[in-house]
Amino acid sequence: MEALRQELEDLKAAALNQIERCADATQLEQARVQLLGRKARLTGLLRQLVTLPPQDRPAIGLLANQVKQTVEEHIAARRAALESIPSDEVLATDRIDVTLPGRRPTMGRLHPLTQIIREICEIFAEMGFAVIEGPEVEWDYYNFEALNIPEDHPAREMWDTFWIDPASAKVDRPMLLRTHTSPMQIRIMEQTKPPVRIIVPGKCYRYEAVDASHESQFHQIEGLAVDEAVTFADLKGTLYAFVRRLFGNDRKIRFRCDYFPFVEPGVDMSIDCFRCKGAGCRLCKASGWLEILGAGMVHPNVLTRVGYDPARYSGFAFGLGPARVAMLKYGIDDIRLFHGNDLRFLRQFP
Ligand code: PHE
Repeated sequence: MEALRQELEDLKAAALNQIERCADATQLEQARVQLLGRKARLTGLLRQLVTLPPQDRPAIGLLANQVKQTVEEHIAARRAALESIPSDEVLATDRIDVTLPGRRPTMGRLHPLTQIIREICEIFAEMGFAVIEGPEVEWDYYNFEALNIPEDHPAREMWDTFWIDPASAKVDRPMLLRTHTSPMQIRIMEQTKPPVRIIVPGKCYRYEAVDASHESQFHQIEGLAVDEAVTFADLKGTLYAFVRRLFGNDRKIRFRCDYFPFVEPGVDMSIDCFRCKGAGCRLCKASGWLEILGAGMVHPNVLTRVGYDPARYSGFAFGLGPARVAMLKYGIDDIRLFHGNDLRFLRQFP
């Protein structure tokens, strides 16, 4: 009886070993027939159980059936394992090359104007200016009236623009697309007491003849600093520091007298033309200089209107064209390129 028990144990060990070594489905099927088929030793043993003495039958029978069940389970497990391994043919034809580089997603980038506006704002922020924004659709009052440009003042001609139809907008006062960011000078001073130090980036509109340096939609960055004892030297010092930071020390800067009704005295500031190196070209209108901003000391009338005492407070203001600055910085010779939607142009500004 012991011999039979031992034979069953050996048979099980050999069977499991054989199953484990099967390398494909065909070998496994051959093993199954050998181990469990009609002519298999195990099958023979099970058939001979009736010939055993009755007292031995239950124990040996139980063992033999357990061996059979274990062998069946191992065959099933091995079959599942073999099926999950791709065959040689599959490996040869359906290969994934894990060394291939991935597909690069197309990355967007900031528009060159957005980049320069952020850079300019950062420079002024470092000098203590707060960055704020304002409405693009503006009341006549803020765009002109409060800036010392009364109705019928000839200076309005300098800023011809797009007017809002009061009937369709259901407003009772004249409204327009702002021609500059200067209205924010008034809005801010109305709301706060000095000291004031702000810059205002934003879009402006004018009824312009479009050319290499003018568009009817454009950006401006307004600057305003009001406090006790602010002088024209502060204005010049601030703007020089700004230009040096942005362009380095070699750029030539020119101030000239200019007229803006809301400043006294008023100036414009130009930088030497990068394109012709000052010789004169289409971009700088043969002058050798590119105007990038208008500026001046805030007019006493403007201070009075917002309730600041002009005897105590003074301030400077400037309005800067970031597109002109970008043209100078990157050597772009036509302002229309910015909104021309040409990717070959835009991709040059990473
Ligand atoms: N707002 C003026 C313009 O658009 C520029 C300016 C701003 C001039 C502030 C003086 C002071 O031309």
